[in-house]
Amino acid sequence: MLNVGIIGVGSYVPEKRVTNFDMEKILDTSDEWIRTRTGIKERRFASSEQATSDLATIAAERAIKDAGISPEDIGLIIVGTNSPDTLYPATACRVQARIGAKNAAAFDLQAGCTGWIYATTVGAQFIRTGMYKYVLTIGAEVITRMMDKTDRYTYVLFGDGAGAAVLGNIEDGGFLSYELYADGSLAQHLVLPAGGSRMPLSQEVLDKRLQYTTMDGREVFKFSVREISRLSKNVINKAGLTANDIDWFIPHQANLRIIDAGMKRLGIPKEKVVVTIDKYGNSSAATVPVALDEIYRAGKIKKGDKILMVSFGAGMTSGAFIVEWSK
Ligand code: ACO
Repeated sequence: MLNVGIIGVGSYVPEKRVTNFDMEKILDTSDEWIRTRTGIKERRFASSEQATSDLATIAAERAIKDAGISPEDIGLIIVGTNSPDTLYPATACRVQARIGAKNAAAFDLQAGCTGWIYATTVGAQFIRTGMYKYVLTIGAEVITRMMDKTDRYTYVLFGDGAGAAVLGNIEDGGFLSYELYADGSLAQHLVLPAGGSRMPLSQEVLDKRLQYTTMDGREVFKFSVREISRLSKNVINKAGLTANDIDWFIPHQANLRIIDAGMKRLGIPKEKVVVTIDKYGNSSAATVPVALDEIYRAGKIKKGDKILMVSFGAGMTSGAFIVEWSK
């Protein structure tokens, strides 16, 4: 049986930069607080005309071009997102139409910030079984629209962006191991309470600002530090490797302190860790594929490199995989 690997990558971040100093002008916060607690210096905000499918479409077109295939070759599109254009139809269907992938099935997958890791793991199984030849997986967010501009605790953390990968069969390398996890009993720690069937939008909801994300930062922090190292160790073991064999470590970019803690627990040196949080903040399901695309475009990844990607988020969920680069 042929292996499954990543044969194309692409990403897009909006042009608008919002620095911590810009945040100081609208909230009771400081560059010093944000930098030292999170590692964020600035983030990107989508323009008022842009929704998640707009960002996803650009990232997808770049990934398809990189893969050297045509949109009609794609059998399935999965968009991992927490900020779909509309609750339905799926953002993936909008992307399918925009890129002209007329032979593709399309659906969204919601797994918090772990969305792209989940989407890519799911997509890879469809190729492994022979159902599809090429699968496009996208992590895309205009997550800043889900945040309360008056809440300094959450608003400073997030940014918008999109990253995409084309998956296909390859001769050597590709995915070596995967792991997905969820603990729904922790759901209350990171929630967008209103706008779904539990609490439809109403004047009362708007007055209480329940249409925005609520978060227990300390609980999310604890879960994330535990999961980043636990899942990474599991996929390293499953692949029959040691931490020394990992060439690149791409963790979800939620907080630099979480990344540092994970890196130390795993014994992975700093120069192998990809950090973009200073520039982009937390763009939720987009952080990992955007970071992957950045080091790829910078020419840093060599054929045969083993890349460990890991994420965690609302649900609570976590997921990780190791891919041996085959391009
Ligand atoms: N500016 C200034 N002060 C602030 C801000 C702000 N933006 N936000 C909170 N504070 C204050 C608090 O009010 C508190 O003040 P007090 O001591 O007078 O009550 C003080 O700073 C410390 O608050 P803590 O909650 O203890 O801060 P902590 O060190 O835990 O950092 C943070 C908060 C950054 C949210 C951290 O808990 C964290 O990163 N948690 C992980 C959550 C996360 O990454 N979420 C991202 C989305 S989820 C995901 O991607 C999985």
